[in-house]
Amino acid sequence: PFNVYDEMREQTPVRYDENRKCWDIFRYEDVQYVLKNPKLFSSQRNRANESMLTTDPPKHKQLRDLVNQAFTPRAIEALAPRIQEIADDLLAPHLATGQIQMVHDLATPLPVIVIAELIGVPSSDRERFKEWSDIQVKGAKNDSDEAFQELMVEKAKNHEELSSYFMNIMEQRRVLPEDDLISLLLAAEIDGQKLTDKEIVGFCILLLAAGNETTTNLITNAVRILAEQPQLQQQLREHPEMIQTAVEETLRYYPPIVAIGRVAKETVELGGQTIQAGDQVISWVGSANRDEQKFANADSFIPDRKPNQHMGFGFGIHFCLGAPLARLEGRVVLQTLLSHMDQIQLVPNTPLQPIQSAFVFGVKEY
Ligand code: HEM
Repeated sequence: PFNVYDEMREQTPVRYDENRKCWDIFRYEDVQYVLKNPKLFSSQRNRANESMLTTDPPKHKQLRDLVNQAFTPRAIEALAPRIQEIADDLLAPHLATGQIQMVHDLATPLPVIVIAELIGVPSSDRERFKEWSDIQVKGAKNDSDEAFQELMVEKAKNHEELSSYFMNIMEQRRVLPEDDLISLLLAAEIDGQKLTDKEIVGFCILLLAAGNETTTNLITNAVRILAEQPQLQQQLREHPEMIQTAVEETLRYYPPIVAIGRVAKETVELGGQTIQAGDQVISWVGSANRDEQKFANADSFIPDRKPNQHMGFGFGIHFCLGAPLARLEGRVVLQTLLSHMDQIQLVPNTPLQPIQSAFVFGVKEY
């Protein structure tokens, strides 16, 4: 999509799309303006699934503060040895042949296992949990209405099962708290009020939905870049400290989430256009990340780019809660692959099929 964005930034940086009935914002400065003004551009688009992601201040901060402590860079860094162990275990069966199905064997299970442990899912339930998580983010088999309906029914049923599963763990943790997120949420209060069971379940499902597919795509997008640029592999082996900035550059260059939705609360002038209160607004961070006004050589992957104020994790009050975790997982996977494999390359003639979603950038399998 990136060359389309170039054209849009140039010709129609702020435009209304009659078909989709929404505004599209393409330049860095404008995208940043939208995301840093929650008073003008609300996140409350869909009341059915209320979560921190879809609430505005002041409720947003109350919700976010509940779980913040579990996601600080320091708290997350403590998970590094365990994440390394998981990455090693997932890679081990494939070292003999030297071949791995990146998406299926490593990039999908890793984030699911990490988040399951963080939430407090017992390891004996890991398989079942992974199935639920996969269904939660699954796309339809094909474009037909039937396939879509079928998927919706499957997802609703899945949501029920996942909810009653979390309810069950909650009952156990109420009696005997552990060092996990469910126990933390059970103890938490907002204005002296405990969270309801439904709110706690909602939190857990938000983390699954927000953290799994995105991190999978970060990993596969990063490894894809490595495979496309053999000299980069050597560079990172010689300068391991560059792995961290290379992960950051991946988030700029191939961001797993390319667009972020808001709804205008007031009439706003932006880029010479008038956005009316109630209008849907799509901020194309995938485009902002390639804006030459902000990034020199924006279309080049520069592994040690600094500064790198990309918006792959969004911007402002909703800036990704899981960013430290996603960064760590990305770093561990790249380190692990680079240290175990002399040459990372795609199996010849592997077609890279893009994931069919306007908001997501990633490939289905390789
Ligand atoms: C928010 C991207 C991984 C949890 C966001 C937003 C983006 C994003 C763009 C802002 C959405 C908005 O402004 O409306 C990503 C990417 C990831 C990733 C690219 C992986 C590379 C994770 C992980 C978790 C997570 C691992 C949790 C375990 C969340 C939550 C929010 C969020 C809870 C909402 C924060 C708020 O509303 O204050 N993420 N995310 N994300 N992310 Fe992530």
